[in-house]
Amino acid sequence: MRNFAEMRRPLTVAEQVADVLREAIADGSLAAGTALRQDDLAARFGFSRMPIRDALRQLEAEGIVSIHPTKGAHVAGMDTTEIREIFALRELLEAEALRLSLPALSDDRLDEAEDVLARIDAEPDVGRWGALNRVFHLALYGACGNQRLLSLIEAHHNAADRYVRILLSNLNYRSRSQAEHRELIAACRRRDVKEAVAVLKKHLGEGMETLAAAGMAKKS
Ligand code: NI
Repeated sequence: MRNFAEMRRPLTVAEQVADVLREAIADGSLAAGTALRQDDLAARFGFSRMPIRDALRQLEAEGIVSIHPTKGAHVAGMDTTEIREIFALRELLEAEALRLSLPALSDDRLDEAEDVLARIDAEPDVGRWGALNRVFHLALYGACGNQRLLSLIEAHHNAADRYVRILLSNLNYRSRSQAEHRELIAACRRRDVKEAVAVLKKHLGEGMETLAAAGMAKKS
């Protein structure tokens, strides 16, 4: 497992600006398609103009913002069909991986997975939560004995990445998600495959519904 402690450092001003914008996108106050002009953002959020450009580039790299060469930046659209497709596949693949992995999963691996949850709680940089969420989930599937299945799961996590970032910036969703992660670990510790798979399916289903609802709201 990678050591995330060494990656921790104070946030730059641009990263702080990116966090504020990501949260505003997650709670819908900056809706999909909204133009993001530096002057407007500086006035509305009290930022200085300089770090805004870097913050927008960072959000563009995450797929949350689109930057057009002449029209400037706007909040990227949410593709509800894509969200449903990715999460339906994640549910199939991850439920199967957990079912295969859990009987062979060592207590040490479960301890490592639980450590990742503590890191999520302690991590101030919203941009890292998606990666930590992926590390947590993959730790639980690591003993499934099927490398191709793990690769497929990783590919779908990457495809979902920009949506998961949006989800995790929503503070209500983040605390609910962490409660579900802990429920999942508890079922894994009891080696209760049926319950663990049920909690995982609920966790992924709620993520999908939360995002799909946000996508709908932003279009209307
Ligand atoms: Ni999760």
